[in-house]
Amino acid sequence: MNSTCIGQLADHEGREVTLHGWVYNTRSSGAVQFVLVRDGTGIVQAVAVRGSVPDDVFGLAQRLTQESAVTISGLVRKDRRAPGGYELTLTNLQLVHEARDYPITPKEHGPDFLLSHRHLWVRSARQHAILRIRAQVEHAIRGFLDDQGFVLTDSPILTPAACEGTSTLFETDYFGDKAYLSQSGQLYVEATAMAFGKVYCFGPTFRAEKSKTRRHLTEFWMVEPEMAYADLDDMMALGEQLVGHVVQEVLRERSRELEVLKRDTKLLAQIEPPFPRITYDEAIALLQKQGEDIAWGDDFGAPHEIAIGDSFQKPVFVHRYPAQIKAFYMEPDPSRPEVALCADLLAPEGYGEIIGGGQRTHNLELLEDRIAANNLPREAFEWYLDLRRYGSVPHAGFGLGIERTVAWICGIEHVRETIPFPRMLTRIYP
Ligand code: 4AD
Ligand code: MG
Repeated sequence: MNSTCIGQLADHEGREVTLHGWVYNTRSSGAVQFVLVRDGTGIVQAVAVRGSVPDDVFGLAQRLTQESAVTISGLVRKDRRAPGGYELTLTNLQLVHEARDYPITPKEHGPDFLLSHRHLWVRSARQHAILRIRAQVEHAIRGFLDDQGFVLTDSPILTPAACEGTSTLFETDYFGDKAYLSQSGQLYVEATAMAFGKVYCFGPTFRAEKSKTRRHLTEFWMVEPEMAYADLDDMMALGEQLVGHVVQEVLRERSRELEVLKRDTKLLAQIEPPFPRITYDEAIALLQKQGEDIAWGDDFGAPHEIAIGDSFQKPVFVHRYPAQIKAFYMEPDPSRPEVALCADLLAPEGYGEIIGGGQRTHNLELLEDRIAANNLPREAFEWYLDLRRYGSVPHAGFGLGIERTVAWICGIEHVRETIPFPRMLTRIYP
């Protein structure tokens, strides 16, 4: 008898298999007992008919409770109506562990209850689909960058300085000194880009965001590619190729999960480069035409990003923001120093910014001025200034937020469902 998994039942049609899993649900109709079993690769319905299995097996099938661990054997039959296309005619059943009063039942629960039971909630079909898609997104990102010759150089998480402003820093004690959880690995990939040419880091980043929105986490994952001898246009070209690749891989490999989420994939199917590009100035004009109360120099709020994103079918790059509303390390546009050579990528369908990046200033004096003007502690940035002392070249890169990207691809309301264990303003448990 074959020990296999539900995802591979197609290879075993007409044969008897053994599966190890957990009871998802049960129902009975007289002499027939249905047991839905999940094993992480799928869900299958096993059908037990009284009289055609030993009485003790049938009795056990009747008593099974939700989320009990079971080993089941059965004959694989093709069934077009079944979730994965196959059903099992039960032949044997063993109880590995009996679960009593599983707290998450098929009835509706509120988000707080579910988040407090996140360690169990990840077993539910919808959460399972989302996290599978997240894993695919991460796989697609790594595959794309590795194939393009980017070298993975991970950035540290404990850092001596801020990258993205001092208002969202998580501070921690470092043997009597202050350290901060990294807001972005960017400064470090700028260093490794000068060693390897094309690099990326991929890991968790932290922001003490006081905002309680559906797009903010305090711990989120970011992939940050960085390229030496590159400019803003190179950055946007890489961003659109990466996002196009990720969306197409998910459509190809995760169609079943997208179906579980009832995701309309028509819009996703046409997410391929080139993406539209507009300047910040054009974005302001577009918003003003739509009646928004916004002036040149203002940063975009969520409603603005949504309005801009919704004006296009594909993600749209907004480039050349006013330097004063962007980070200290941005390269000014030489023909218009009041704007920075930066770009954000805004997703369609109301998902807002998924990429932020641009060209970094490679001029030592300018960077020294910017550090001073932003009241950043110079000593903590000496190493970063060294990059402008020894072989400084134009370079560019960006950060793509994993959770916002996954939320958009899945078409779900809130980023909290896109990470196994979300960290938010009011939640650190479980
Ligand atoms: O635009 P941000 O702040 O850019 C940076 O951190 C750059 N240093 C990255 C770089 O150039 N290497 O953040 C980049 C992306 C955003 O576009 C968004 O997708 C995501 O990170 N992000 C968040 N996602 C969830 N929760 C938050 N609080 C986020 N803040 C940013
Ligand atoms: Mg940003």
